[in-house]
Amino acid sequence: MKFDIKFDAIGRFLQPKTPPLIGVDISSSAVKFVELEDAGKGRYRIERYVIEPLQKDAVVDGNIVNLDQVSDSFKRGWKKLNSRVRNVALALPAAAVITKKISVPAGQREDELELQVETEANQYIPFALEEVNLDFQVLGPSPTSADDVEVLIAASRKEKIEDRVAAAEAAGLKAIVVDIESYATQAAFELIARELPEGGVDQTIAIVDVGTSMMNVNILRNGESVYLREQPFGGQQLTQEIQRHFGLTPEEAEIAKRNGGLPENYESEVLQPFMDNLALEVARVLQFFYTSTQYSSVDRILLAGGCAAIPDLDGAVSRRTQVSTVVANPFSQMDVSSKIRPRQLQLDAPSLLVACGLALRRFDPS
Ligand SMILES: Nc1ncnc2c1ncn2[C@@H]1O[C@H](COP(=O)(O)OP(=O)(O)OP(=O)(O)O)[C@@H](O)[C@H]1O
Ligand SMILES: [Mg+2]
Repeated sequence: MKFDIKFDAIGRFLQPKTPPLIGVDISSSAVKFVELEDAGKGRYRIERYVIEPLQKDAVVDGNIVNLDQVSDSFKRGWKKLNSRVRNVALALPAAAVITKKISVPAGQREDELELQVETEANQYIPFALEEVNLDFQVLGPSPTSADDVEVLIAASRKEKIEDRVAAAEAAGLKAIVVDIESYATQAAFELIARELPEGGVDQTIAIVDVGTSMMNVNILRNGESVYLREQPFGGQQLTQEIQRHFGLTPEEAEIAKRNGGLPENYESEVLQPFMDNLALEVARVLQFFYTSTQYSSVDRILLAGGCAAIPDLDGAVSRRTQVSTVVANPFSQMDVSSKIRPRQLQLDAPSLLVACGLALRRFDPS
């Protein structure tokens, strides 16, 4: 089953078919744009992408703290992208969204269903309904009762959505889909799964996205998320350690980290301990997973996020967890536009999982 919920920012069900759109991930380090095209025969082509850096602390823990700065990056990024498409799909962090599956009688009219969803939502959402955006999606027949269908409800506080939509609007763009980051990751994963042995069927696969401040772990089985966890751990810790160790400013540390040029003791005294810590964090999350679910093993780890660019991080994680680990590249099965440099795309790909998953919303059947 595929989760596919959208908060339709312009009102639900107004769009009979999804028009061309660009996936935009507003993350803590950058505003990231990805535009995909249908290349025919079930293939996609990455047409354009831009990673436009964001000032530090403009977005913290998935919340837009400085809307002006985010809007400015949005505008600059959009200009560089040089696309004609003006619709965008955005995402909220999973922590900002409450989701719940309910069962309702099958065969209800849309308005009846809507009313029932609102009544249900009222019971478990800790805010007044006027303060939230509510959406739902019929998933299919209920696994427990033949007369029922299963419905996924999602709710988020209005301002979380409004801030993101406002940043897009400031750049002259229209947000027509607001998704959830973990669902976007999952959509991107479905492309990667094609490359796995047996297409990943009946395998337990952990996507570990290590970004700036957060490590997001989403464990999937046959296209369904069976475990989701956020740990406060990210590349920011390495940047801070570089600052302390070598007396650099945050900006200098960030550049040195990506481009090299640090003293010889960097690897042994700073980088290696960070990689060990990261691997340990992953092992811990897997332990939580085993103790709180019926599962006792993971078949594969896919590393994503900017930190996945650290050489041999996959090796470090694999040695610590004893799970085969690879770096995720959502574009490996795609055609690549001649406008894009393949070397650079290869480096950037792991940090574009969310933006890529959002860009894929363009091809959703509706
Ligand atoms: N080549 C590299 N070597 C080491 N670290 C890198 C490299 N490239 C990027 N990073 C780090 O990856 C992090 C950014 O990753 P990413 O773009 O996935 O984060 P984000 O999506 O903005 O953050 P979050 O998901 O936490 O909001 C930064 O800490 C950055 O320093
Ligand atoms: Mg991220």
